[in-house]
Amino acid sequence: MKARVVLLAAGKGTRMHSRLPKLLHHLSGRPMILHSLESAERVSKELPILVVGHGSEAIRETVGPRAEFVEQADQLGTGHALLQTQRMLAGKADLIVVSNADLPLLTSDTLKKLLDKQKKNKGPFTLLTLRQGEARGFGRVKRDVSGEPRAIIEEAEASAADLAIEELNVGAYCFRADWLWPALKKLKPSAKKKEYYLTDLLEIAAKAGDHVETAILEDANEAIGINTREHLAEAEAALRKRVNRYWMLEGVTIIDPQSTYIESGVSIGQDTILWPNTMLLGTTTIGEDCIVGPNTVIRSSRVGNACRIEAAVVELAVIENDVDIGPFAHLRKGAQLGEGVHMGNFGEIKNSTLATGVKMGHFSYIGDATIGPNVNIGAGTITANYDGEKKNPTVIESDVFIGSDTMLVAPLHIGQGARTGAGSVVTKDVPAHTVVVGVPARVIRKLEELD
Ligand code: UD1
Ligand code: CA
Repeated sequence: MKARVVLLAAGKGTRMHSRLPKLLHHLSGRPMILHSLESAERVSKELPILVVGHGSEAIRETVGPRAEFVEQADQLGTGHALLQTQRMLAGKADLIVVSNADLPLLTSDTLKKLLDKQKKNKGPFTLLTLRQGEARGFGRVKRDVSGEPRAIIEEAEASAADLAIEELNVGAYCFRADWLWPALKKLKPSAKKKEYYLTDLLEIAAKAGDHVETAILEDANEAIGINTREHLAEAEAALRKRVNRYWMLEGVTIIDPQSTYIESGVSIGQDTILWPNTMLLGTTTIGEDCIVGPNTVIRSSRVGNACRIEAAVVELAVIENDVDIGPFAHLRKGAQLGEGVHMGNFGEIKNSTLATGVKMGHFSYIGDATIGPNVNIGAGTITANYDGEKKNPTVIESDVFIGSDTMLVAPLHIGQGARTGAGSVVTKDVPAHTVVVGVPARVIRKLEELD
């Protein structure tokens, strides 16, 4: 039996009070829609179908070729939204899994369970329900005395008695296609909101004497639907817990999961320890046996094994094994630190390569530079890489000793084994094994080559 997954994503998200379409608000660093899409992708090999309307352009752009799109020009309700897919799907799929796109924590396992249950059900559909947790505006599932589900009462339309019902409609369903398409045509606008509610299909089925199956969701967190920013924060917390638990089970120590933020594109090696207030973002990968934090942000960077990074901000950088950074260091785009580099406090590195064994202990800015192995960068060293018009490169060969407070006015080349005196302003290239001092720096002597 062929199944397709439809995500309903055309609604306005009025309760968010936002200029941004609801489904593009971020959750764990990614637009919410991509979380739902990922679950949908794991249920069927066929592309998921997205019903879009409000903010359609932006949603199409975010999702790209990962889905097929159907436009719902006027948002007349969830039933009307699903009806828009009929032209694309009628006769092409036997089972239609439908989920509201604003349920970003709903897992593919749950959707698969729904599908499997409907495969065994002779009735028209299976409905996902929840018997615990906060109502959050969800529809109430009304059963008759024999326990048969009879109707879903939307909160806007519910009486006080209905509101007391504890079984909730999560917003995910699996339909037999041959029943679905004609049934959708029977929907009437609701009494108060005048919308075509998908949920009214339960009453239509029950009245015709058809048995609707229910699948019960065990983990209430999966059903956190996002209607308001308060729900968004709840979902963020639940997802953070889920991700942190995953990494702890994989062998990562997280000292304080409450204050540790790991986005979904991150990976972390065994026996790494994360101290409080650490954010690992984007496509960051961290090796084994590292100690990261406290108070550290690492964005889309690669960190090798056995590194120590404390109170630092690292963005789009590459850090090899055994590197020691911080506290109070800033690595920017294109910073590449070779094995065993030491970068102490108050340093900034941008678009520069520091080869293995470079030491840069205190108060330095290195930009657009290539630094050879075992160079020592004295306290307060600055590469003056910008002349007001363009950025200029600095090249420092291996085993150079840069004295404290040296100003390296780029473009500049400093030969192997050279030294600069404290406070020098180097404006001209320095030959290998030469000592320069002063403002501007002048050669004072040649060093004997040891090799
Ligand atoms: C819906 C359900 C409710 C359920 C809840 C939980 C209906 C009528 N009610 O209510 O029983 O408990 O979800 O998830 O279905 N959408 C469209 N086109 C529209 C309207 C909505 O595509 O015309 C999309 C929205 O983008 C959203 C989803 O459908 O992703 C649900 O719409 P929303 O307005 O959030 O419904 P709820 O009030 O949450
Ligand atoms: Ca909703």
